[in-house]
Amino acid sequence: MAVLNRLRGLWRQSQGILFSAPADDDTADQVDDYTFRPVTPDHLDKDEIFAIRGRARRFHSRLGGSHQFLGFVSQENEVVSYVWLSVAEGASLDVPFRYGLLIRLCPGQAYIWDCATAASHQSRGLYRQGLTHARIEAARRNADQVYIFTDLDNAASIKGIMAAKFVEQSRITVLRRGPIRGLRVEGETADYYFGEGRSTQFLKRFNRAT
Ligand SMILES: CC(C)(COP(=O)(O)OP(=O)(O)OC[C@H]1O[C@@H](n2cnc3c(N)ncnc32)[C@H](O)[C@@H]1OP(=O)(O)O)[C@@H](O)C(=O)NCCC(=O)NCCS
Repeated sequence: MAVLNRLRGLWRQSQGILFSAPADDDTADQVDDYTFRPVTPDHLDKDEIFAIRGRARRFHSRLGGSHQFLGFVSQENEVVSYVWLSVAEGASLDVPFRYGLLIRLCPGQAYIWDCATAASHQSRGLYRQGLTHARIEAARRNADQVYIFTDLDNAASIKGIMAAKFVEQSRITVLRRGPIRGLRVEGETADYYFGEGRSTQFLKRFNRAT
């Protein structure tokens, strides 16, 4: 069984939707009882939302790097919803994607990724408002376009993204074939293949500035 699972892990694919929105200065509504602000390291070891799936360990090692960590904090000073935002300002910037693949952002592009809301705080608009805040922050950092990718079967995420005024840009299948990673962009005839840990510049084609 373990061998079978390992083999399955080597041959996988997932289908998702890439959305984009201009990083213009919109306004984000306040969500009663929550404050949106940068997430500081002290939250990682105490807040329940970081206790699952190795998040605390993963986020500790990511903090202090090029990516911004933002979230809603409850009145009890607990982070209950968070987003990661990456903005390529002067130079290109790589962001972790699926199966060890990286997405390379061109200057002016921003990308929102690795988001969640704690189960007991879901369906209160925190994700939608968090995405809007992140879009405004991206504009403040001179990005002109913001992207987000989510799985095709993630209804809550798709609803939240669309409610935050993102529009569908493209459907993309991410493939893992043993040591090779691939991308299949809907409407394009050829797939793109990469080695593990390599960067893909596929966002470039959606860059309005090029
Ligand atoms: C996706 C997720 C972040 C949404 O968080 P949230 O704070 O509950 O989102 P919102 O309250 O802004 O709700 C977004 C929309 O999804 C709807 N929704 C919430 N849970 C839902 C569910 N289980 N199924 C379908 N729709 C759902 C809400 O009603 C809302 O729709 P509306 O705008 O039409 O009212 C949360 O479900 C989650 O943490 N999921 C696991 C991690 C994940 O999928 N992250 C996103 C990856 S990019």
